[in-house]
Amino acid sequence: MAPIYSRIIATGSALPERAVSNADLEKIVDTSDEWIRTRTGIRQRHIAADGETTGDLAFLAAQRALEAAGVKASELDLIVLGTTTPDIIFPSTACLVQQRLGANGCAAFDVNAACSGFMYALGIADKFIKSGQSKKVLVIGAETLTRMVDWNERETCVLFGDGAGAVVLEASGEPGIYATCMHADGGYKELLWNPVGVSVGFRDEPNHGVRIKMAGREVFKVAVKTLDSLVDETLEAAGMHESDIDWLIPHQANLRIIEATAKRLQMPMDRVIVTVDQHANTSSGSVPLALDYAVRSGKVQRGQNLLLEAFGGGFTWASALLRY
Ligand code: ACO
Repeated sequence: MAPIYSRIIATGSALPERAVSNADLEKIVDTSDEWIRTRTGIRQRHIAADGETTGDLAFLAAQRALEAAGVKASELDLIVLGTTTPDIIFPSTACLVQQRLGANGCAAFDVNAACSGFMYALGIADKFIKSGQSKKVLVIGAETLTRMVDWNERETCVLFGDGAGAVVLEASGEPGIYATCMHADGGYKELLWNPVGVSVGFRDEPNHGVRIKMAGREVFKVAVKTLDSLVDETLEAAGMHESDIDWLIPHQANLRIIEATAKRLQMPMDRVIVTVDQHANTSSGSVPLALDYAVRSGKVQRGQNLLLEAFGGGFTWASALLRY
């Protein structure tokens, strides 16, 4: 039987209207535009308005992707949404978005893999298509991370932003996603986490506030090393070499982490999509935001090979190598 591939037929994304520059942050914490730019590559981040939710951003990104694909919501047979900042505990944000799109009846669920959420969602959706279970799938990565940022803590507040991206996948005889990889190591949980929640209780005490906690330098080191081996593993799984990759579309957390991965792939930076300067680290939103920019700006062309990857809290890390 001929293989079934998942093909990305269109992309979409959404950012909140309000952009906050590094200079704006200088007014609220002891930091500088120069420190933020040289350490991370970030120039600004977008922050959700009061009442604006992850689901709102996901819905907008999904609408734009469906419109670009020429696919009606009623044609979808699955929605997978990566997020670590769902609107409410349940129903899932995927269900909330499904209802707003008018895709009622298809399967819909969230995936929580922190910054790797979209890459996990894409890998799962690919398996549904390859198995013959699904034909048209909406995959979304969406976050409002700034809702759990401590604006007094300069080590973390400068790094994060809100945003969403989406892709429409379709079953096809043509490639398509060649390979996806997914990993996690819960042994690293305390290097990057938000240790509050339903079962442990919603305590808001000094050591248990609803805040992102991060050991930045350690996260940086493990991320670089792990992404190096992830790149090797993905190339091997797809039966490809570094020189087969046209574009690297990495998780947009820190320009220095991105540069290290590009170096490992021997790719010049003009073959790497960088949008972290525009929206900071949007966790699950980051890779699909960068992909949508790459597609709509005309950088990425049909027939080119793309390597997508992400690393985040858990730790989790995941990738996909695909022909666009
Ligand atoms: N403004 C000014 N100074 C700051 C700020 C700030 N916003 N934040 C920290 N500093 C200070 C520190 O206090 C420290 O001061 P000291 O030397 O007097 O003690 C100094 O800057 C240097 O701190 P370092 O931690 O050594 O800086 P580093 O070069 O490692 O950069 C950073 C810090 C940007 C957090 C980096 O480690 C990083 O990006 N880590 C990865 C974290 C990340 O991306 N997390 C997101 C989720 S995981 C992921 O998506 C990959």
